Amino acid sequence: MKYFYLNIFLAISFLYFIWLKPDPSLSVQTTDNLQGGTQYTVVASGLNIPWEIVWGPDQKIWLTEQKGYVCRVDPLNGKKDTLLKLDDVWYLRTTGLLGMALHSDMKKNPYVFLNYTIQKDKKYMTRLVRYTWQKDTLINAKTLMEIPAANGHNGSRLTVHEGILYWATGDALSLTDSQNPQTPNGKILRMNIDGSVPADNPMKGNLVWAWGFRNIQGMVFSKSGLLYTSEHGDANDDEINLIQKTRNYGWPTVQGFAESVEESSFKGLHQTVDPLKAWTPTIGPAGLDYYASDKIPEMKNSLLLVTLKGKSLRSLKLSADGKQILSESIFFENKFGRVRDLCVSPAGDIYISTSNRDWNPVAGFPMPEDDRIIKISKLSKSDPQNSLSSMPPGSKPAALYQQYCASCHKDDGMGVKGVFPPLQGSQTVVINPKVLIRKVLTGSSGPATINGVNYEAQMPSFAFLKDEDMLEILGYVRSLGSNHAIPIKPETVKEVRASLNN
Ligand code: HEC
Repeated sequence: MKYFYLNIFLAISFLYFIWLKPDPSLSVQTTDNLQGGTQYTVVASGLNIPWEIVWGPDQKIWLTEQKGYVCRVDPLNGKKDTLLKLDDVWYLRTTGLLGMALHSDMKKNPYVFLNYTIQKDKKYMTRLVRYTWQKDTLINAKTLMEIPAANGHNGSRLTVHEGILYWATGDALSLTDSQNPQTPNGKILRMNIDGSVPADNPMKGNLVWAWGFRNIQGMVFSKSGLLYTSEHGDANDDEINLIQKTRNYGWPTVQGFAESVEESSFKGLHQTVDPLKAWTPTIGPAGLDYYASDKIPEMKNSLLLVTLKGKSLRSLKLSADGKQILSESIFFENKFGRVRDLCVSPAGDIYISTSNRDWNPVAGFPMPEDDRIIKISKLSKSDPQNSLSSMPPGSKPAALYQQYCASCHKDDGMGVKGVFPPLQGSQTVVINPKVLIRKVLTGSSGPATINGVNYEAQMPSFAFLKDEDMLEILGYVRSLGSNHAIPIKPETVKEVRASLNN
């Protein structure tokens, strides 16, 4: 009798634990109101590298995770379910399950389009596949196309507009494909939903709609039917383009606006189209969306862009005809880390997804709750992390290093193990100034082995930097951490440039 009440208590606690314990897949939702009026809510956490997020016909956010999952998150309670797990995804750094698009009329055509990297006969390929949505699963996989892939520059984005599928592909590291309208890489392809060539494509029997691209990571149609893309440049000139059919966008010869003699003569010869906007230093532009709602009035008729290196959400105000970008505003800079994609709900709320568990994490991230989807329902420019300038704080050399080198070699110059070599303690950095200058002017000439470690990723050329900026960066790099090398003389940079031009 003595233990009767205790036993009852234990039994009840046990039953409570079995039946009522909180569901671990439910994430805690936290809302923050910043002083200036910005309001955001974390609606999902614990995701693993979401690549594409799309507002679904069931009022849920559909997402791809790079390692091969197609999931849905209910934005009301953060609950996540898995629609599909792909077993043949080849995931490494920027390969894996990438773009996804839902058909614009899911009632009649419940199709979900995906593209992901596979390994086939020891080669990398990108597979474009169509699934049919049935309740809580995706069935009837139909492969529409397979095109060459590589361990970088695989794009990509998909979108369906008026029943036609558009696919922005990467150049897959080829230096010739982008300029060849007969191959699928470095293009925007336009196809019917069974993969066939639409009868009204501009080049008969050819899926190619526009060409001359490097690595598109954002694509959207505006309300009036204009097609925009965001694209990663090399060391310079990230771009936003307005896409016109059968036009050439210039990569690899024209980067950003056609400014140099070589670029302008190529432009004259091939009638290449300049971007609407270009960024040097680069920002790592990714998901792109068009804002048509009245909910956040300042955003109306803007392109919304999220950035990886730039770690922000940006709004690019369009002119009434959509053919010009009038201004740029930057929101949440550095607050959530790398941001890969976004979508806008019918109510006009903006949802952004982080990419802090990917191959190239930044200082302070991933946070334990990464990756996350964050809902933004109000935006105000007067909050401190929302600004018009992206110049990082600190001395000028530190700022230049931040803008041009830190996205790979990291803030402290320690790099990323096996991907980007450390500059602290590097022989190339401290010993012979000429070797260092040559490296920065020319970039990689193929995979490199440094101190017994292989680096497959490539370093772009920084020949476009002005001598004085180059000297500040090199001085900074040579003084990082335990590097105590003396500054480099201006003549030495001139000398190496001259020797490379001969
Ligand atoms: C997009 C990524 C990326 C950026 C941006 C980048 N690098 Fe690199 N860097 C690499 C990779 C990858 C390697 C290794 C492969 C190689 O050496 O070609 C490398 C190698 C180097 C090396 C040789 C290291 C050694 O020990 O041999 C130096 C020096 C260097 N980078 C300096 C810089 C400087 C200075 C900047 C900024 C102006 C910069 N890098 C920007 C990717 C990058």
